[in-house]
Amino acid sequence: MTFSKIILSWYATHKRTLPWRSSTDPYKIWLSEIILQQTRVAQGTPYYKAFISNFPKVQDLANAPEEKVLKLWQGLGYYSRARNLHATAKTIATEYNGKFPKTFDELLKLKGIGDYTASAIASICFNAPKAVVDGNVYRVLSRYFGIAIPINGNEGIKYFKNLAHKLMDAKNIRDYNQAIMEFGAIQCTPKKTNCHNCPLQNSCIAFRDQKVHELPVKINKTKIKHRYFNYLVPVSTTTNGDAKTILLQRTGKGIWQNLYEFPLIETEKKISITEIQQCFHEALPLASALELYPFNEKEIIHKLSHQHLHTTFWIAPTSSDLENGVLLSEIETYAVPVLVADFIKTFKKSYF
Ligand code: ADE
Repeated sequence: MTFSKIILSWYATHKRTLPWRSSTDPYKIWLSEIILQQTRVAQGTPYYKAFISNFPKVQDLANAPEEKVLKLWQGLGYYSRARNLHATAKTIATEYNGKFPKTFDELLKLKGIGDYTASAIASICFNAPKAVVDGNVYRVLSRYFGIAIPINGNEGIKYFKNLAHKLMDAKNIRDYNQAIMEFGAIQCTPKKTNCHNCPLQNSCIAFRDQKVHELPVKINKTKIKHRYFNYLVPVSTTTNGDAKTILLQRTGKGIWQNLYEFPLIETEKKISITEIQQCFHEALPLASALELYPFNEKEIIHKLSHQHLHTTFWIAPTSSDLENGVLLSEIETYAVPVLVADFIKTFKKSYF
């Protein structure tokens, strides 16, 4: 049997039942693929279901306020994906009469849709002979053929795209593309591989050469940037007893655009309580008489793909009314980064 026939036959018996799998609706496939670029199937499925139940059609997503889209995306990270999702829904609703274009080239013109997503939509929804190459496919192909060209360099990208194209079953492309990704996701996994129970074992070069765990090869391109975040969390009790705090919306490019967070002081290195006492008034002008204390004694290191955020939350109890503040009881309605959401959860448990 050929490589593609083995993959397809494995898929027929092992595929998971997933909420978008029975569909060829490009809206559903697009949404699921964008979510799956951020996380694995198990974690992504509840997000997919929440989006579909809030926005059953692309027009519903187009008409939604950005806040709501970001809130539903909360926890997936890389928020520019959510903003692109929203922008493209608007484009489809207004310029394409609510219907996704059917060709790879037309799909590629849409914001947030690159080679991978355009190939996935064109093949799964419209049977276009376009091979997808995601992380799963790189892993399967590099191991099976024993290829050590780095998958994140220009040469590797071209090489694997070409190879994937040669191997695909064009007549069965809808299933084939999903099959090879599924094979990578549950059979040829990154760590605890299932080689002893693998239909490709006999002809797999990496298995033969005991190189399964050395492939695929990736070059380390990015240096991690360390940033030091000091969040100031004023907490007031107004006359009717509802505690309030302050949230500000992030602007500008960079991480977490348009999400909410507490007033922030970013420093070059870890800062002492004395130093923060001296400078926090600029970030929190109304609270001149505040006493600060750190909520977390040991800094929290929040890891993003290229940055580590060394974070301390400083609690600042105040008798000020915090007129423009938000009620702690309503704070969950704001779209915040996971770092802040995790703090809010722990803080509210300890505070109330
Ligand atoms: N990962 C990303 N998209 C996928 C799909 N359609 N099937 C299986 N795994 C995937």
